[in-house]
Amino acid sequence: MRGAAVAGGRRGIAPGLAALSAPARRGGAARGRGAATFAWAGGRVTPPPPRLVDLGLPHVSLVSALHGACFEDGWRPQTFLDLIQGGGVFGLLALDWRDRPLGFALTRLTVGEGEILTLGVLREARQQGVGKLLLSGLCARLAVLGCHVLFLEVAETNNPAQRLYESFGFRQVGRRKDYYTHLDGSREAALVMRRDLLT
Ligand SMILES: CC(C)(COP(=O)(O)OP(=O)(O)OC[C@H]1O[C@@H](n2cnc3c(N)ncnc32)[C@H](O)[C@@H]1OP(=O)(O)O)[C@@H](O)C(=O)NCCC(=O)NCCS
Repeated sequence: MRGAAVAGGRRGIAPGLAALSAPARRGGAARGRGAATFAWAGGRVTPPPPRLVDLGLPHVSLVSALHGACFEDGWRPQTFLDLIQGGGVFGLLALDWRDRPLGFALTRLTVGEGEILTLGVLREARQQGVGKLLLSGLCARLAVLGCHVLFLEVAETNNPAQRLYESFGFRQVGRRKDYYTHLDGSREAALVMRRDLLT
């Protein structure tokens, strides 16, 4: 997929997104390793897990802001608008129990072949199962639509993403030299990964 992940810290987070994601910072995604509790009616309760909703035209500004928080070269709302209107493209948003956004994923299906265009989780919501949730949601949707094979590209040094994809059965099938250009001008290869869906 296009775009190198933001390394080290959150760069260029869009105005308003920090406030939107505040519950994620406080309570986490309430799932997996990071499941948090909060005080409620004199006791401590675990909030409901994140949920997925379809990403649609009303979400283009939001998903652009989320993308900008996750990647060096954030995509403009118009880019998401063009993709979603282009046909064969659909996406998912992960929301916490208060409907605050945690992450997103976008995919394109062409004649039985799927491609993950982008996927990201806000830094403060990571390592709590949101990436897995998004990926399993995408795979389930693609399988229903008749997708038999799914491809993606991931930066060669992006170990968290590679581990995530490997845990979903993706295997490296190629390498694109100098595919990504970082903000400092340095180049990085992309690994091409593949997973069969209908086997
Ligand atoms: C990659 C990314 C989407 C993972 O999202 P996440 O919500 O943290 O992932 P999950 O919590 O669902 O973790 C799923 C698996 O991914 C792997 N993983 C996630 N974060 C990891 C890390 N920091 N180091 C090593 N493995 C990691 C683990 O195998 C994990 O499984 P486990 O919990 O059983 O160990 C997230 O780090 C991100 O948005 N990064 C920036 C954008 C990006 O790189 N997108 C992908 C571009 S190809």
